Amino acid sequence: MSLKPNISTPELAKLINVHLGEKYLKETPSWKVLDSPISGRGIFAVRDIAAGEVILRDRALVVGPRGTKESCNQTPVACVVCYKPLEVNDDESQIMCKNGCTLPLCDSCSQGNRHSTECELFRRWKPKDPKKVIPHILRLVSIVRCFFLNDAQRKLFLSLQPHSDKYYMLELQRAVACFENFPKDREMLEYFYHSVCVFNTNAFDGGSREMGEEEVRVRALFPLAAMLNHQCSPNADHHFENPETIVITAVRPIKGGEEIVTSYTKLLWGTMTRRMFLKMTKHFECCCERCMDPTENGTYLSALFCRQQGCKGIMIPVQTKTLQPDWRCLTCESVFPHSKMARYQDFALNTINNRINACSISDMITFINDMCPRFCPPSNYVLVEAKLNVIWRMSRATTEVFTEEQLKCKDRYRAELLELLEKLGAGECTLKKLITEERL
Ligand SMILES: C[S@@+](CC[C@H](N)C(=O)[O-])C[C@H]1O[C@@H](n2cnc3c(N)ncnc32)[C@H](O)[C@@H]1O
Ligand SMILES: [Zn+2]
Ligand SMILES: [Zn+2]
Ligand SMILES: [Zn+2]
Ligand SMILES: [Zn+2]
Repeated sequence: MSLKPNISTPELAKLINVHLGEKYLKETPSWKVLDSPISGRGIFAVRDIAAGEVILRDRALVVGPRGTKESCNQTPVACVVCYKPLEVNDDESQIMCKNGCTLPLCDSCSQGNRHSTECELFRRWKPKDPKKVIPHILRLVSIVRCFFLNDAQRKLFLSLQPHSDKYYMLELQRAVACFENFPKDREMLEYFYHSVCVFNTNAFDGGSREMGEEEVRVRALFPLAAMLNHQCSPNADHHFENPETIVITAVRPIKGGEEIVTSYTKLLWGTMTRRMFLKMTKHFECCCERCMDPTENGTYLSALFCRQQGCKGIMIPVQTKTLQPDWRCLTCESVFPHSKMARYQDFALNTINNRINACSISDMITFINDMCPRFCPPSNYVLVEAKLNVIWRMSRATTEVFTEEQLKCKDRYRAELLELLEKLGAGECTLKKLITEERL
């Protein structure tokens, strides 16, 4: 089967319906897959949809562990078959497949047969370090699973958009280097590389807490949800119902005929960060309404202090269509190049992130209230994210007792964040629910 089949949009829509099956395809869906003016294919409302309404549920075609170094450190190691968190003590080999494929596996899955084919394959390839869970190998699991799709599934998989990138090749080479006998077969390697490209262009990273207290993160390919295009002020949001089911919900009323869009970035990032991220990871330059408004609906999430000595004004980007705009001061009208402002933004980001990682909650509040305003306008997204971090840590703290003053700060941060979301037109998004319910 060719890796680049020429499939029409109606043909793809039919394949998606078959994939959804009776359980996921409602009798009269509120959506339709059509060609999109934004890019390629998209999902469109076929009738008015209310805010908060579930638009669709999609089931995963392929799921696997996230397998980034960061995810291995931050979240518990999970079974690669049922995604149940595994208790790790000093000896990682305790949670690894007893047959020696190096993948983490729970007791009950190690007795079932869902793992046997990939277990055999990984053992045949001979992991170089059989005593350790290796993130590169974990990340390869979902890619290998693409190889075991049946013909109909493979046809659907190959209709998804693949962006190629030299870093994706590197990702594959890193995984290959973890084995002694990785096959040299060119066709197989090409299929794996193609799978990495499809995954990186279309997969959703997500977690579900339902199975236990701790959130386990997976990355999964949902063929219908993969049709969703991006806008920085989206009308829909997603969450994982479980590791194999994604739910797309309307965050505000959507008119019949409107394209249903989600955001591929964090909602509260500034424009420079969002556009760079989209360019680097999704290979397009976003030109949505929010990106074209240097004030970002009056939120000034990107604003930085003027670099002209003596001026206390704020600067925002002048041009909108370029990834490297000049910046202009709203008070003295001085103009500075992108490079200077990007360095300044990085400095603010690093200074605050270093504190987030090292400070107690109370020091963090003092830092946000007293220190940050000296080098970063209060509207800047880095400061906004720091406030989000404080709310998150305070709502999770079980033993710490907070002063009246600190609790007031938290409430103030929450109110500010909710006002920001309102200005951005974020509607009933997941972040709003999390802030309101303090379940970040
Ligand atoms: C998950 S796919 C979305 C579905 C895609 N349109 C298709 O036909 O398969 C992601 C890709 O769609 C394109 N895309 C999504 N949102 C876009 C936007 N706002 N502007 C330009 N391209 C976009 C980019 O090529 C991106 O990498
Ligand atoms: Zn399991
Ligand atoms: Zn195994
Ligand atoms: Zn945008
Ligand atoms: Zn100025």
